Amino acid sequence: MTKGMLKMGMVGGGPGSMIGDIHRLTAEATGKTKLVCGAFSSDLHKSRQKGNELGLDMNRVYASVEEMIDKELQLPEGERMDFIAITTPNHLHVAAANLALKSGFHVMCDKPLSINYQEALELKKVVDQSKMKFGMTYTYRGYAGILKIKELIESGRIGDIRKIKVDYTQGWLTELIEDQGQKQAKWRTDPKFSGQGGTIADIGTHAFNMAEYLAGSKVTEIAADVSILVKGRKIDDDANVLLRYENGIKGILSVGQACAGELNSFIVKIYGSKGSLHWTNGHSNIIVFKGLENSEEIYIEESVVDLHEAIKLLPDGHDESFLKGFLNLYNLFFKSIEDDTVAEIPNIKDGVRGMLFIEKAIESSNKNTFVTL
Ligand SMILES: NC(=O)c1ccc[n+]([C@@H]2O[C@H](COP(=O)([O-])OP(=O)(O)OC[C@H]3O[C@@H](n4cnc5c(N)ncnc54)[C@H](O)[C@@H]3O)[C@@H](O)[C@H]2O)c1
Repeated sequence: MTKGMLKMGMVGGGPGSMIGDIHRLTAEATGKTKLVCGAFSSDLHKSRQKGNELGLDMNRVYASVEEMIDKELQLPEGERMDFIAITTPNHLHVAAANLALKSGFHVMCDKPLSINYQEALELKKVVDQSKMKFGMTYTYRGYAGILKIKELIESGRIGDIRKIKVDYTQGWLTELIEDQGQKQAKWRTDPKFSGQGGTIADIGTHAFNMAEYLAGSKVTEIAADVSILVKGRKIDDDANVLLRYENGIKGILSVGQACAGELNSFIVKIYGSKGSLHWTNGHSNIIVFKGLENSEEIYIEESVVDLHEAIKLLPDGHDESFLKGFLNLYNLFFKSIEDDTVAEIPNIKDGVRGMLFIEKAIESSNKNTFVTL
Protein backbone atom coordinates (compact mmCIF):
# COMPACT_ATOMS: atom_id res chain seq x y z
CA MET A 1 0.00 0.00 0.00
CA THR A 2 1.33 3.46 -0.91
CA LYS A 3 0.09 6.46 1.06
CA GLY A 4 0.62 10.18 0.56
CA MET A 5 1.79 11.99 -2.53
CA LEU A 6 2.80 9.60 -5.30
CA LYS A 7 6.00 10.33 -7.16
CA MET A 8 5.64 10.25 -10.92
CA GLY A 9 8.29 9.37 -13.48
CA MET A 10 7.82 9.79 -17.20
CA VAL A 11 9.24 8.21 -20.31
CA GLY A 12 8.60 10.28 -23.45
CA GLY A 13 7.00 13.71 -23.37
CA GLY A 14 10.07 15.59 -24.58
CA PRO A 15 10.12 19.05 -26.21
CA GLY A 16 7.42 19.45 -28.86
CA SER A 17 5.69 16.15 -28.07
CA MET A 18 1.92 15.85 -27.99
CA ILE A 19 0.74 13.88 -24.99
CA GLY A 20 3.41 13.84 -22.26
CA ASP A 21 2.53 17.26 -20.86
CA ILE A 22 -1.14 16.37 -20.80
CA HIS A 23 -0.34 13.24 -18.74
CA ARG A 24 1.72 15.32 -16.31
CA LEU A 25 -0.70 18.22 -15.94
CA THR A 26 -3.81 16.09 -15.52
CA ALA A 27 -2.12 13.60 -13.19
CA GLU A 28 -0.82 16.47 -11.04
CA ALA A 29 -4.25 18.13 -11.13
CA THR A 30 -5.62 15.22 -9.10
CA GLY A 31 -3.53 16.60 -6.21
CA LYS A 32 -2.17 13.10 -5.62
CA THR A 33 1.08 13.15 -7.55
CA LYS A 34 4.07 15.22 -8.59
CA LEU A 35 6.46 14.54 -11.43
CA VAL A 36 9.92 13.93 -9.96
CA CYS A 37 11.91 12.40 -12.80
CA GLY A 38 11.91 11.49 -16.44
CA ALA A 39 13.61 10.13 -19.52
CA PHE A 40 11.82 12.51 -21.83
CA SER A 41 13.66 11.80 -25.06
CA SER A 42 16.16 9.37 -26.57
CA ASP A 43 18.42 12.43 -26.88
CA LEU A 44 19.85 13.36 -23.45
CA HIS A 45 20.20 17.01 -24.44
CA LYS A 46 16.46 17.20 -25.20
CA SER A 47 15.60 15.24 -22.07
CA ARG A 48 17.61 17.78 -20.04
CA GLN A 49 15.97 20.67 -21.86
CA LYS A 50 12.59 19.34 -20.76
CA GLY A 51 13.71 18.62 -17.21
CA ASN A 52 15.09 22.13 -16.95
CA GLU A 53 11.86 23.65 -18.29
CA LEU A 54 9.94 21.72 -15.62
CA GLY A 55 12.34 22.71 -12.85
CA LEU A 56 13.24 19.11 -12.01
CA ASP A 57 16.30 18.05 -10.04
CA MET A 58 18.68 17.52 -12.99
CA ASN A 59 20.15 14.43 -11.30
CA ARG A 60 16.79 12.85 -11.95
CA VAL A 61 16.62 13.61 -15.66
CA TYR A 62 17.81 10.55 -17.49
CA ALA A 63 19.04 9.43 -20.90
CA SER A 64 16.85 6.32 -21.05
CA VAL A 65 14.15 4.44 -19.18
CA GLU A 66 16.77 1.82 -18.28
CA GLU A 67 18.96 4.46 -16.61
CA MET A 68 15.93 6.01 -14.92
CA ILE A 69 14.89 2.73 -13.34
CA ASP A 70 18.42 1.80 -12.36
CA LYS A 71 19.14 5.16 -10.70
CA GLU A 72 15.73 5.50 -9.06
CA LEU A 73 16.19 2.06 -7.49
CA GLN A 74 19.38 3.33 -5.88
CA LEU A 75 17.39 6.03 -4.04
CA PRO A 76 15.84 5.31 -0.62
CA GLU A 77 12.36 3.81 -0.99
CA GLY A 78 10.55 6.91 0.21
CA GLU A 79 12.33 9.11 -2.32
CA ARG A 80 12.23 7.12 -5.52
CA MET A 81 9.39 7.35 -8.03
CA ASP A 82 6.28 5.22 -7.42
CA PHE A 83 5.05 4.86 -11.00
CA ILE A 84 5.93 5.69 -14.58
CA ALA A 85 3.75 7.16 -17.29
CA ILE A 86 4.71 5.75 -20.69
CA THR A 87 4.15 8.39 -23.36
CA THR A 88 6.62 7.38 -26.08
CA PRO A 89 5.79 6.13 -29.58
CA ASN A 90 4.24 2.64 -29.53
CA HIS A 91 7.37 0.54 -30.20
CA LEU A 92 8.81 1.40 -26.76
CA HIS A 93 5.75 0.78 -24.57
CA VAL A 94 6.30 -2.89 -23.80
CA ALA A 95 10.01 -2.75 -22.97
CA ALA A 96 9.46 0.21 -20.62
CA ALA A 97 6.42 -1.38 -18.95
CA ASN A 98 8.15 -4.72 -18.57
CA LEU A 99 11.20 -3.23 -16.89
CA ALA A 100 9.18 -0.93 -14.65
CA LEU A 101 6.86 -3.68 -13.41
CA LYS A 102 9.71 -6.11 -12.77
CA SER A 103 11.54 -3.36 -10.83
CA GLY A 104 8.53 -2.68 -8.58
CA PHE A 105 7.01 0.41 -10.19
CA HIS A 106 3.35 0.88 -11.15
CA VAL A 107 2.68 1.74 -14.79
CA MET A 108 0.27 3.99 -16.63
CA CYS A 109 0.75 3.26 -20.33
CA ASP A 110 -0.65 5.06 -23.31
CA LYS A 111 -2.37 3.18 -26.11
CA PRO A 112 -1.97 1.12 -28.23
CA LEU A 113 -0.31 -1.32 -25.87
CA SER A 114 2.43 -2.55 -28.20
CA ILE A 115 3.42 -3.04 -31.81
CA ASN A 116 1.96 -6.53 -32.18
CA TYR A 117 -0.32 -9.03 -30.46
CA GLN A 118 2.48 -11.40 -29.44
CA GLU A 119 4.29 -8.64 -27.53
CA ALA A 120 1.04 -7.74 -25.81
CA LEU A 121 0.49 -11.32 -24.65
CA GLU A 122 4.00 -11.46 -23.24
CA LEU A 123 3.47 -8.25 -21.30
CA LYS A 124 0.15 -9.59 -19.99
CA LYS A 125 2.03 -12.49 -18.35
CA VAL A 126 4.29 -9.99 -16.59
CA VAL A 127 1.34 -7.84 -15.45
CA ASP A 128 -0.55 -10.91 -14.22
CA GLN A 129 2.41 -12.04 -12.13
CA SER A 130 3.17 -8.58 -10.79
CA LYS A 131 1.84 -6.95 -7.64
CA MET A 132 2.16 -3.57 -9.33
CA LYS A 133 -0.81 -1.76 -10.92
CA PHE A 134 -1.07 -1.39 -14.67
CA GLY A 135 -3.46 1.11 -16.25
CA MET A 136 -3.97 2.44 -19.76
CA THR A 137 -5.06 5.85 -20.99
CA TYR A 138 -7.85 5.04 -23.41
CA THR A 139 -8.84 8.61 -22.67
CA TYR A 140 -12.43 8.51 -23.88
CA ARG A 141 -13.18 5.97 -21.16
CA GLY A 142 -12.70 8.76 -18.62
CA TYR A 143 -15.06 11.23 -20.32
CA ALA A 144 -17.97 12.25 -18.12
CA GLY A 145 -20.36 11.84 -21.07
CA ILE A 146 -19.18 8.30 -21.76
CA LEU A 147 -19.41 7.33 -18.07
CA LYS A 148 -23.00 8.62 -18.11
CA ILE A 149 -23.83 6.56 -21.22
CA LYS A 150 -22.49 3.45 -19.49
CA GLU A 151 -24.62 4.22 -16.43
CA LEU A 152 -27.73 4.71 -18.60
CA ILE A 153 -27.13 1.43 -20.43
CA GLU A 154 -26.63 -0.45 -17.16
CA SER A 155 -29.80 1.05 -15.71
CA GLY A 156 -31.75 -0.44 -18.63
CA ARG A 157 -32.64 2.93 -20.19
CA ILE A 158 -32.38 1.60 -23.77
CA GLY A 159 -33.30 -2.03 -23.02
CA ASP A 160 -31.28 -4.75 -24.72
CA ILE A 161 -28.55 -3.45 -26.97
CA ARG A 162 -29.01 -4.50 -30.59
CA LYS A 163 -26.61 -2.37 -32.61
CA ILE A 164 -23.60 -0.09 -32.02
CA LYS A 165 -21.98 2.41 -34.35
CA VAL A 166 -18.62 4.03 -33.62
CA ASP A 167 -17.15 6.48 -36.08
CA TYR A 168 -13.80 8.12 -35.35
CA THR A 169 -12.37 10.38 -38.04
CA GLN A 170 -9.56 12.89 -38.37
CA GLY A 171 -8.19 14.72 -41.38
CA TRP A 172 -4.62 15.56 -40.41
CA LEU A 173 -3.16 12.76 -42.57
CA THR A 174 -5.05 13.81 -45.73
CA GLU A 175 -1.71 14.73 -47.27
CA LEU A 176 1.59 12.89 -47.08
CA ILE A 177 2.86 15.10 -44.25
CA GLU A 178 5.17 12.38 -42.94
CA ASP A 179 7.40 13.18 -45.93
CA GLN A 180 7.45 16.84 -44.91
CA GLY A 181 8.98 16.06 -41.52
CA GLN A 182 5.82 16.25 -39.36
CA LYS A 183 7.07 14.46 -36.26
CA GLN A 184 3.87 12.84 -35.01
CA ALA A 185 2.93 11.70 -38.53
CA LYS A 186 6.41 10.33 -39.22
CA TRP A 187 6.42 7.65 -36.54
CA ARG A 188 2.69 6.92 -36.78
CA THR A 189 3.02 5.98 -40.46
CA ASP A 190 6.14 3.86 -40.03
CA PRO A 191 5.47 0.24 -38.99
CA LYS A 192 8.82 0.15 -37.15
CA PHE A 193 7.49 2.64 -34.59
CA SER A 194 3.72 2.38 -34.92
CA GLY A 195 3.43 -1.40 -35.31
CA GLN A 196 1.52 -3.30 -37.94
CA GLY A 197 -1.42 -0.87 -37.82
CA GLY A 198 -1.53 2.81 -38.68
CA THR A 199 -4.92 4.43 -38.19
CA ILE A 200 -6.42 1.09 -37.13
CA ALA A 201 -3.94 1.21 -34.21
CA ASP A 202 -3.83 4.92 -33.47
CA ILE A 203 -7.55 5.65 -33.27
CA GLY A 204 -9.04 2.27 -34.24
CA THR A 205 -8.08 0.92 -30.82
CA HIS A 206 -9.91 3.83 -29.12
CA ALA A 207 -13.01 3.04 -31.21
CA PHE A 208 -12.83 -0.71 -30.64
CA ASN A 209 -12.30 -0.27 -26.90
CA MET A 210 -15.38 1.95 -26.79
CA ALA A 211 -17.41 -0.53 -28.85
CA GLU A 212 -16.71 -3.38 -26.41
CA TYR A 213 -16.91 -1.25 -23.25
CA LEU A 214 -20.34 0.20 -23.99
CA ALA A 215 -21.72 -3.12 -25.24
CA GLY A 216 -20.45 -4.83 -22.08
CA SER A 217 -19.83 -7.72 -24.42
CA LYS A 218 -17.02 -9.09 -26.57
CA VAL A 219 -16.73 -8.90 -30.33
CA THR A 220 -16.26 -12.41 -31.71
CA GLU A 221 -16.10 -11.84 -35.47
CA ILE A 222 -15.09 -8.97 -37.71
CA ALA A 223 -14.99 -8.19 -41.42
CA ALA A 224 -12.65 -5.32 -42.14
CA ASP A 225 -11.63 -3.23 -45.10
CA VAL A 226 -8.31 -1.66 -44.06
CA SER A 227 -6.91 0.74 -46.64
CA ILE A 228 -4.24 3.21 -47.59
CA LEU A 229 -6.09 6.16 -49.14
CA VAL A 230 -3.11 8.47 -49.55
CA LYS A 231 -0.73 7.42 -52.28
CA GLY A 232 2.81 6.80 -51.06
CA ARG A 233 1.85 6.04 -47.43
CA LYS A 234 3.40 2.91 -45.93
CA ILE A 235 0.58 2.00 -43.59
CA ASP A 236 -3.22 2.11 -43.36
CA ASP A 237 -4.97 5.44 -42.91
CA ASP A 238 -8.58 4.22 -43.14
CA ALA A 239 -10.66 1.25 -42.00
CA ASN A 240 -14.31 0.20 -42.09
CA VAL A 241 -15.21 -2.80 -39.98
CA LEU A 242 -18.34 -4.88 -39.36
CA LEU A 243 -18.55 -6.26 -35.81
CA ARG A 244 -20.45 -9.32 -34.58
CA TYR A 245 -20.68 -9.68 -30.80
CA GLU A 246 -20.90 -12.85 -28.73
CA ASN A 247 -24.49 -12.11 -27.71
CA GLY A 248 -25.81 -11.20 -31.15
CA ILE A 249 -25.23 -7.43 -31.05
CA LYS A 250 -24.20 -6.02 -34.43
CA GLY A 251 -21.76 -3.19 -34.86
CA ILE A 252 -20.09 -0.88 -37.35
CA LEU A 253 -16.74 0.73 -36.67
CA SER A 254 -15.33 3.29 -39.06
CA VAL A 255 -12.04 5.13 -38.61
CA GLY A 256 -10.00 7.38 -40.85
CA GLN A 257 -7.22 9.92 -40.54
CA ALA A 258 -7.27 11.06 -44.16
CA CYS A 259 -10.83 12.39 -43.96
CA ALA A 260 -10.39 15.93 -45.26
CA GLY A 261 -11.88 18.66 -43.12
CA GLU A 262 -12.27 16.58 -39.96
CA LEU A 263 -10.29 17.65 -36.90
CA ASN A 264 -11.19 14.95 -34.41
CA SER A 265 -14.72 13.60 -34.67
CA PHE A 266 -15.79 10.66 -32.51
CA ILE A 267 -19.44 9.67 -32.83
CA VAL A 268 -21.07 6.90 -30.83
CA LYS A 269 -24.62 5.55 -31.31
CA ILE A 270 -26.10 2.65 -29.37
CA TYR A 271 -29.49 1.22 -30.34
CA GLY A 272 -31.47 -0.89 -27.88
CA SER A 273 -34.95 -2.42 -27.69
CA LYS A 274 -36.37 0.62 -25.84
CA GLY A 275 -34.39 3.52 -27.28
CA SER A 276 -31.00 4.74 -28.37
CA LEU A 277 -28.15 6.90 -27.05
CA HIS A 278 -26.22 9.37 -29.19
CA TRP A 279 -22.93 11.10 -28.37
CA THR A 280 -20.25 13.04 -30.16
CA ASN A 281 -17.02 14.44 -28.77
CA GLY A 282 -17.91 17.72 -30.50
CA HIS A 283 -20.49 18.21 -27.72
CA SER A 284 -18.89 15.82 -25.31
CA ASN A 285 -21.03 16.67 -22.27
CA ILE A 286 -24.33 16.07 -24.03
CA ILE A 287 -25.99 12.70 -24.38
CA VAL A 288 -29.16 12.43 -26.41
CA PHE A 289 -31.63 9.67 -25.59
CA LYS A 290 -34.15 8.90 -28.34
CA GLY A 291 -37.07 6.78 -27.25
CA LEU A 292 -39.97 5.05 -28.92
CA GLU A 293 -42.68 7.29 -30.40
CA ASN A 294 -40.21 10.10 -31.16
CA SER A 295 -39.52 11.04 -27.55
CA GLU A 296 -36.19 12.70 -26.86
CA GLU A 297 -34.30 13.53 -23.67
CA ILE A 298 -31.02 15.33 -23.24
CA TYR A 299 -28.57 14.63 -20.43
CA ILE A 300 -25.85 17.16 -19.69
CA GLU A 301 -22.72 16.19 -17.77
CA GLU A 302 -20.30 18.76 -16.39
CA SER A 303 -16.67 18.40 -17.41
CA VAL A 304 -15.04 21.59 -16.21
CA VAL A 305 -11.33 21.48 -15.46
CA ASP A 306 -9.37 24.37 -14.09
CA LEU A 307 -6.29 23.61 -16.13
CA HIS A 308 -5.45 26.60 -18.26
CA GLU A 309 -1.92 25.46 -19.01
CA ALA A 310 -3.22 22.15 -20.32
CA ILE A 311 -6.08 23.70 -22.29
CA LYS A 312 -3.47 25.52 -24.38
CA LEU A 313 -1.90 22.15 -25.24
CA LEU A 314 -5.06 20.41 -26.45
CA PRO A 315 -4.63 18.84 -29.90
CA ASP A 316 -7.02 20.11 -32.64
CA GLY A 317 -10.60 18.97 -32.17
CA HIS A 318 -10.22 18.08 -28.48
CA ASP A 319 -12.02 19.93 -25.69
CA GLU A 320 -11.79 20.10 -21.90
CA SER A 321 -13.42 16.69 -21.60
CA PHE A 322 -10.22 15.19 -22.97
CA LEU A 323 -8.37 16.60 -19.96
CA LYS A 324 -11.13 15.52 -17.62
CA GLY A 325 -10.90 12.06 -19.19
CA PHE A 326 -7.22 11.80 -18.32
CA LEU A 327 -7.83 13.26 -14.88
CA ASN A 328 -10.59 10.75 -14.10
CA LEU A 329 -8.43 7.82 -15.21
CA TYR A 330 -5.46 9.02 -13.16
CA ASN A 331 -7.68 9.56 -10.11
CA LEU A 332 -8.94 5.98 -10.25
CA PHE A 333 -5.43 4.67 -10.92
CA PHE A 334 -4.09 6.45 -7.82
CA LYS A 335 -6.98 5.23 -5.72
CA SER A 336 -6.24 1.65 -6.73
CA ILE A 337 -2.59 2.14 -5.70
CA GLU A 338 -3.58 3.65 -2.35
CA ASP A 339 -6.19 0.99 -1.57
CA ASP A 340 -4.43 -1.89 -3.32
CA THR A 341 -7.54 -2.65 -5.33
CA VAL A 342 -8.19 -3.23 -9.03
CA ALA A 343 -8.70 0.09 -10.78
CA GLU A 344 -11.86 0.50 -12.82
CA ILE A 345 -9.93 1.88 -15.75
CA PRO A 346 -8.71 0.35 -18.98
CA ASN A 347 -6.10 -2.26 -18.14
CA ILE A 348 -3.88 -4.89 -19.70
CA LYS A 349 -6.88 -6.86 -20.98
CA ASP A 350 -8.09 -3.81 -22.92
CA GLY A 351 -4.59 -3.38 -24.30
CA VAL A 352 -4.38 -7.00 -25.43
CA ARG A 353 -7.86 -6.88 -27.01
CA GLY A 354 -6.80 -3.76 -28.91
CA MET A 355 -3.75 -5.50 -30.35
CA LEU A 356 -5.80 -8.57 -31.30
CA PHE A 357 -8.29 -6.28 -33.04
CA ILE A 358 -5.53 -4.65 -35.11
CA GLU A 359 -4.05 -7.98 -36.15
CA LYS A 360 -7.42 -9.52 -37.00
CA ALA A 361 -8.68 -6.46 -38.88
CA ILE A 362 -5.62 -6.58 -41.12
CA GLU A 363 -6.00 -10.34 -41.56
CA SER A 364 -9.69 -9.97 -42.42
CA SER A 365 -8.96 -7.25 -44.93
CA ASN A 366 -6.21 -9.29 -46.58
CA LYS A 367 -8.39 -12.43 -46.76
CA ASN A 368 -11.49 -10.47 -47.78
CA THR A 369 -13.66 -12.32 -45.26
CA PHE A 370 -14.99 -12.39 -41.66
CA VAL A 371 -12.42 -13.64 -39.14
CA THR A 372 -12.82 -14.79 -35.54
CA LEU A 373 -11.37 -12.76 -32.68
N1 LIG B 1 -4.63 8.69 -25.07
C1 LIG B 1 -4.69 9.51 -26.08
O1 LIG B 1 -5.72 10.09 -26.36
C2 LIG B 1 -3.45 9.76 -26.89
C3 LIG B 1 -3.31 10.94 -27.64
C4 LIG B 1 -2.10 11.13 -28.32
C5 LIG B 1 -1.10 10.17 -28.30
N2 LIG B 1 -1.30 9.03 -27.60
C6 LIG B 1 -0.24 7.99 -27.54
O2 LIG B 1 0.85 8.54 -26.80
C7 LIG B 1 2.08 8.06 -27.31
C8 LIG B 1 2.95 9.26 -27.71
O3 LIG B 1 2.30 9.99 -28.73
P1 LIG B 1 2.69 11.52 -29.05
O4 LIG B 1 1.75 11.97 -30.09
O5 LIG B 1 2.82 12.28 -27.80
O6 LIG B 1 4.12 11.31 -29.72
P2 LIG B 1 5.25 12.42 -29.90
O7 LIG B 1 6.06 12.02 -31.06
O8 LIG B 1 4.64 13.78 -29.90
O9 LIG B 1 6.10 12.29 -28.55
C9 LIG B 1 6.83 11.14 -28.23
C10 LIG B 1 7.94 11.51 -27.26
O10 LIG B 1 8.64 10.32 -26.91
C11 LIG B 1 10.04 10.63 -26.92
N3 LIG B 1 10.86 9.43 -27.13
C12 LIG B 1 11.09 8.76 -28.26
N4 LIG B 1 11.95 7.74 -28.04
C13 LIG B 1 12.26 7.80 -26.72
C14 LIG B 1 13.09 7.01 -25.88
N5 LIG B 1 13.82 5.99 -26.36
N6 LIG B 1 13.18 7.34 -24.57
C15 LIG B 1 12.49 8.39 -24.07
N7 LIG B 1 11.67 9.15 -24.83
C16 LIG B 1 11.56 8.86 -26.14
C17 LIG B 1 10.19 11.61 -28.07
O11 LIG B 1 11.39 12.36 -27.96
C18 LIG B 1 8.96 12.48 -27.85
O12 LIG B 1 9.25 13.50 -26.91
C19 LIG B 1 1.72 7.15 -28.48
O13 LIG B 1 1.71 5.81 -28.06
C20 LIG B 1 0.31 7.59 -28.87
O14 LIG B 1 -0.44 6.55 -29.47
C21 LIG B 1 -2.43 8.82 -26.89
